[in-house]
Amino acid sequence: MKDTVRIFDTTLRDGEQAAGINLNGTEKFQIARQLAALGVDVIEAGFPASSRGDFDSVRSIASEIDGPIIAGLARANEGDIRRAAEAVREASRSRIHTFIATSPIHMEHKLKMSPEEVLRRTTDAVSLAASLVKDVEFSAEDASRSDPEFLMEVFTAAIAAGATTINVPDTVGYATPGEFGDFLSRIMEGTEGSEKAIWSVHVHNDLGLAVANSVEAVRRGARQVECTVNGIGERAGNASLEEIVMALKVRRDVFSVDTAIDTTKLFDTSRMVSRLTGVHLPPNKAIVGDNAFAHEAGIHQHGVLCKRETYEIMHPKDVGAPETKLVMGKHSGHHAFAKELESMGYSLTDQELKRAFSLFKELCDKKEMVTKSDMEALVVDEILSV
Ligand code: KIV
Ligand code: ZN
Repeated sequence: MKDTVRIFDTTLRDGEQAAGINLNGTEKFQIARQLAALGVDVIEAGFPASSRGDFDSVRSIASEIDGPIIAGLARANEGDIRRAAEAVREASRSRIHTFIATSPIHMEHKLKMSPEEVLRRTTDAVSLAASLVKDVEFSAEDASRSDPEFLMEVFTAAIAAGATTINVPDTVGYATPGEFGDFLSRIMEGTEGSEKAIWSVHVHNDLGLAVANSVEAVRRGARQVECTVNGIGERAGNASLEEIVMALKVRRDVFSVDTAIDTTKLFDTSRMVSRLTGVHLPPNKAIVGDNAFAHEAGIHQHGVLCKRETYEIMHPKDVGAPETKLVMGKHSGHHAFAKELESMGYSLTDQELKRAFSLFKELCDKKEMVTKSDMEALVVDEILSV
């Protein structure tokens, strides 16, 4: 039987919480439509109790976007939960995602609640949510820094009260992959009713480990991962959707799971989110960065020209990216140089090619990037006209 990992996209909620991002309703709607086309299983459309604008955009996404489950976030209190229920009411498949913190530091300093009170709030919140919608997700904020015994009690209570998805966040991006995997396995094993719920993880990227932690969780049995396009989110961001999806696909031999994502839409989705949020991508960003399929070193270029797979573990078209680029620079080799000239319509003799290559190398030492026009000028002025 096909084993599927659900992709829960929180670009419009946690992603939008990133410093400097402020999407209006129309922009959120555009992104939601693209996420549906991409094939995400759940769109967390916003936090309806946080503002009138958020409520309205969750409601419009819920009433007009078909396909994915539409989720609204709610703290574990009656006001938030009723507001979220109202916002997602029109969705053909709706979810309330309610959460409360369970780590000692959050309970004592932020919530100022005892563990007993947190436990009671969990039951009350999930029961109320379950009376309003069929699909309820419960998250224990800062789970990875919580006492495992207490966490298991909280999750047991959440499942008994009707939660159908149990989410284990690494809220501050503190966990490491082996440790997070062990922690998750232990919690899944020790929670009563564990088999009735879908286990989920939600990992932040403070140590740059969000994707590694997420895919390790999948290896340990998580069947939902929460992520954002381009990894945008609070502080250093959330786990990046495109990286998780491609890691699961390219290394299916390790993970043995599929997702419903149409990976050929990853590139366009990433560019759309970058444009609408104003968050630029570093050129070396995995999967969707400008250099993700660019080769400059001569040895690499030669390898790729002989057989692409020598230096590429996926095809650009698998993610909808433009074709592989051989970048002309001081590390480029003779083969790539000749191939580039050929593609520009110049067929030189061996002698001419040798001289052109040596002039090209001299130029590379003077210029950071050698463009096609530079190469053209070099061939026309220095080789063909002498
Ligand atoms: O990081 C976090 O813990 C969250 C929860 C609300 C799931 O965003
Ligand atoms: Zn988060």
